[in-house]
Formats: sequence, C-alpha cells, structure tokens
Amino acid sequence: MKNKKITAAITGVGAWVPEYILDNDELSRMVDTTDEWIMTRIGVKERHILKGEGLGSSYMGERAVRDLLEKTGTDPMDIDLLICATVTPDMFFPATANLICAKVGAMNAFGYDLIAACSGFLFALSTASQFIETGKYKKVVVVGADKMSSITDYTDRATCPIFGDGSGAVLLEPSEDGYGIIDFDLHSDGNGAKHLHMKAGGSAYPPTHENKWHYIYQEGQPVFKAAVSHMADVALEVMNRNHLAAEDIAYLVPHQANIRIIEATAKRMGISEDKAMINIQNYGNTTTATLPLALRDYEGRLRKGDNIILATFGGGFTWGAAYVKWAYDGVDFSK
Ligand SMILES: CC(C)(COP(=O)(O)OP(=O)(O)OC[C@H]1O[C@@H](n2cnc3c(N)ncnc32)[C@H](O)[C@@H]1OP(=O)(O)O)[C@@H](O)C(=O)NCCC(=O)NCCS
Repeated sequence: MKNKKITAAITGVGAWVPEYILDNDELSRMVDTTDEWIMTRIGVKERHILKGEGLGSSYMGERAVRDLLEKTGTDPMDIDLLICATVTPDMFFPATANLICAKVGAMNAFGYDLIAACSGFLFALSTASQFIETGKYKKVVVVGADKMSSITDYTDRATCPIFGDGSGAVLLEPSEDGYGIIDFDLHSDGNGAKHLHMKAGGSAYPPTHENKWHYIYQEGQPVFKAAVSHMADVALEVMNRNHLAAEDIAYLVPHQANIRIIEATAKRMGISEDKAMINIQNYGNTTTATLPLALRDYEGRLRKGDNIILATFGGGFTWGAAYVKWAYDGVDFSK
C-alpha cells in the first residue's frame, strides 16, 4: 500500500507580550505626533515594550514556547528542532533558538535562528514544514520573537509609532490527513534593502551609536507600495494554484505592518475585511511575532478544516504567503 503524504500540521499556538504598554498618549509626549495621526495613518493604539536590564528576545521567546507547551501538553524533551525567527537576537551567537531551548528544557532539540525581517516567521514555518514532511522529525517548534524597541529610534516620529515587542510560537507535527501547510511561495529582493534596513551592528558596520545606524531606517512610501502589491500578489498566486476562491478562505492572516496595508491587501485579494485577522491596534508591528500573535488571538474562532492564508512582507525586501488547512477546533484561551 502506498504511504500517505505527510504534511506539517500546526497543532498549537502560544504567545506572549510584555506587560508595559506604550500608548499613543505617552508617545505624543516623546515625539511630535498625535493619537489621531497614528490611528489614521498606521492604526496602532498601543504597543508592548520589554523593560528590564539584559532581557532580550529569548526572554520573550521562552514565554511563548512555555505557553505553547502548556496548551498542547508537550514535554520539552520531545521537541526535535526549534527555529527562531528574529531580527533582534539576544546576541549574534549563540543563536536565540539555542537560548530558548535551554530555558524551556528542550535538551533533545537542535536550534537555529533565521533572519528574513518581517517575513521571518513565514520563512521559518515553511522551512520547518520540510523537516516534518520528509518524516525526519515529529515535533518542530517555530518561534517569532522580536524586541523591536531595542532598535527603534524614539526620536524618529515616522517609525517609532509602528513597532512593538512580542513573541509567538507554533508546534508542527505530522498529519496524514492533509492538514497543515499545504503550499507556500516565498520571495526576496535585496534591491529593496535601501528602503528598510538597520545599517550597523553586523560585519559591514560594527555596532556604533554614530549616525543612528543601529536603528531601523525606513522610507515609508516605497515600503508601503511594495508591501501592498507583493503581499496581495503572492497570496493570490498561492490561492490560484490551489484552486481557492476568496469565499473558500476562512481567514487571511496578514503581517501587521499598518492597518492601511492590511485593508489594501485584503481588498486587492477580494477578501472581506472581517476575514482578515487584525490586532495591530494592540501590539503594533512586532516583526516576526505578528503571525503567531494573530493566530493566538483568533485561535478560538478557527475550526478544523478551515482554509487560511498567511501573508507577509518585510525588510530585505522579503515576502511570501502560505496556504494552511487548520488542524483543530480552536479553544478561546483568553476567556
Ligand atoms: C511610515 C508611514 C506611516 C508614513 O505615512 P505616510 O502617509 O507615507 O506619510 P509621509 O511619510 O508622507 O509623511 C506625511 C507627513 O506626516 C509627517 N509625519 C510622519 N510621521 C508622523 C507622526 N508620527 N505624527 C505626525 N506627523 C507625522 C511627515 O513629517 C510628513 O509631514 P510633511 O508633509 O510636513 O513633510 C507609511 O509610509 C507606512 O506605513 N509605510 C510602510 C511602513 C511599514 O509598514 N513598515 C514595515 C514593513 S514590514
């Protein structure tokens, strides 16, 4: 008898955000801006900020993974692999993934980090799915954790309202019934680097406080235009080749960069706004954590068999979309 194809099912979601909330009123006292401008142009009401000496993305990643392990009843010793997507690793080495493994006691797992800016979680999810599909591993954790406040210039009013800190994680396990990641389409174009980057801190320009090169540099308008067209087009490509019409989609899970980008992307895809997961108002752009945070917040509404489309865009430029058949009836853990 022919073996059934193995797919990588998402069997649980965990997330965590720091307690401290930086709202638009506080931000208006730091830079020349208003709640009204930020809500109209970006759609962020508040963002969570990690405070505390020496705390980095692994601190947040650990908490998201602990939430995931608890919700799924998973023994950390059963995890085979943990991939952490981040643009704000605790340090360049060791990998933040390794630090998270040690903190949660995943001592049989190997781990590594993956950088694809705001598309990092989707790129890591797609990479992780391959380890499951080959049959090599049974439990793979994908984490997105970013302390964006550590690279945000709080004197630059055009970027500082956008970003926040947070983390999220999913568990991937084999399915023989066709649940999980069915398809994905990923892209990158290094020509976009000039519009969105952090210049210093790597080998080209070692860490420096000169010229603000250790902060996010962003040209808002070219990034905005590229985000809308690429996210919608790649998501439509994935839908078309899987013969999915807009009405077949239960939810669009877009990267939470800007409310106007989300609305324009959904419109271009022909997806009604009530089908787009939106929580940007509460967290801002948490870079690699936006997709798992959205899945966590909407988990209670998801039903087994739902077709969902994940779509991202980020620095690099990087962009992509994935088609996921949801594997379980969600329980609303927030109640
Ligand atoms: C950054 C962004 C919100 C700026 O919005 P915009 O409509 O393009 O605004 P502009 O840059 O044209 O600026 C318009 C005016 O608002 C001002 N402005 C910028 N930030 C402001 C703020 N926080 N409060 C008040 N005014 C602000 C500008 O100085 C400019 O003033 P001017 O006309 O006197 O020069 C928008 O371009 C954007 O969201 N881009 C995509 C960013 C993104 O998603 N990045 C992550 C990708 S993963």
